[in-house]
Amino acid sequence: MTHKTLLLGQTLLFDADPMTHAWSDAVRVDPAGGVLISDGHITAVSDGATLLRDHPQSQVVDYADGLICPGFVDAHVHYPQTAMIASWGKRLIDWLNTYTFPEELRLSDPAYAAEIAARYLDLTTACGTTTVCSFTTIHPHSVDALFDAAAARGQCVVAGKTCMDRNAPDGLRDTAQSAYDDSKALIARWQGQGRAQYAITPRFSPTSSVEQLSALGALWAEHPECLMQTHLSEQVDEIAWVRDLYPDARDYLDTYETHGLLGERGVFGHAIHLTPREVDRIAETGAALVHCPTSNTFIGSGLFDMAGLAARNIPVGLATDTGGGSSFSMLRTMAAAYEIGQLRGTALHPAQLMWLATAGSARSLHLQDQIGHLRAGGYADITVLDLASTPAIAQRAAQAETIWEAVFPTIMMGDDRAIRDVWIAGQLQR
Ligand code: GUN
Ligand code: ZN
Repeated sequence: MTHKTLLLGQTLLFDADPMTHAWSDAVRVDPAGGVLISDGHITAVSDGATLLRDHPQSQVVDYADGLICPGFVDAHVHYPQTAMIASWGKRLIDWLNTYTFPEELRLSDPAYAAEIAARYLDLTTACGTTTVCSFTTIHPHSVDALFDAAAARGQCVVAGKTCMDRNAPDGLRDTAQSAYDDSKALIARWQGQGRAQYAITPRFSPTSSVEQLSALGALWAEHPECLMQTHLSEQVDEIAWVRDLYPDARDYLDTYETHGLLGERGVFGHAIHLTPREVDRIAETGAALVHCPTSNTFIGSGLFDMAGLAARNIPVGLATDTGGGSSFSMLRTMAAAYEIGQLRGTALHPAQLMWLATAGSARSLHLQDQIGHLRAGGYADITVLDLASTPAIAQRAAQAETIWEAVFPTIMMGDDRAIRDVWIAGQLQR
């Protein structure tokens, strides 16, 4: 008989998208819920008492008041930037040249890349993150390092070789041809192997020649099963630079579209300073945008228009953007998304924030059938929150009259101490 595990506690359940439906119709918490796990997957989600009665042989883990959530999904990160997170005083282009590129150069050593990949997954798992979509470096072994580390943990990771053939230092440039060849070989090695998902990854228009963007557009046409990830309209100076580099383009998005790099499986990080035409094209094509709130304040980029873009039915994910972001924690990231919403005049509800960090990010990566929800058939990637993890949070939660009043202090003030347990493919991580 297959081994079964039954998690009991408060369960976070999604019936619809709370960014386009009333949150109260879309998100529920069952105060006495249960999640049954078998063979790495969720096999039933129901009330705890029923599952306990029907599956008396299962191993029971009772989390009582703990909130059982889908594992957090971080939709845009740079794992190679783990060791230079929180570097002081620069804006985007200077920040890349001063801190980021020198650190990415260190990953030319495969042993260092493997060390950083393992360190990164340790740090993010401790924060309750079970899937990330990551940039790497130009080195193919940096892709292997992350997928190998993820496979050892049974973890679903999306990643791809970061491609750049100009405006980057010696040792950090590939060519149009080598970017195509190396990416193609990595797709053959990794796409769909276990839980690995490949994303074709031009870093951003300023560090790719038109030849490289075209080569990667052609590669994507040959491998439409892959995602394509890049950066879009993060900072005003960057947009002016793109205008100089691509004088014939209608706008920043057009630099990608012209080269075959806009489509439904496209995932664009930041997307803060968009023109109406760009928003229309993104909405028409079904591409996803990723909000990186701690990065956007830390590097001084601007305020993402969550309410406006979600109202256009554009899929939006949530992300740390490590190490441009200032935290590995999706709780801290939800808090920053709330704060940016306030600065733009929309208070995101805790139900919306939790959805963005799980199902919303999963949908932006086209992984909603596998992760991001507590539902039968999906992988058992689960994070259990302690809603009273510090004295400050506990005294606030003790006064809560609704579940959302109890959850919100953990979103705003919680950190890795709020992560009670993390399950990946049905395995408890310690
Ligand atoms: N734009 C191009 N590369 C990067 C990066 O590494 N981080 C951020 N935040 N923006 C970028
Ligand atoms: Zn980024």
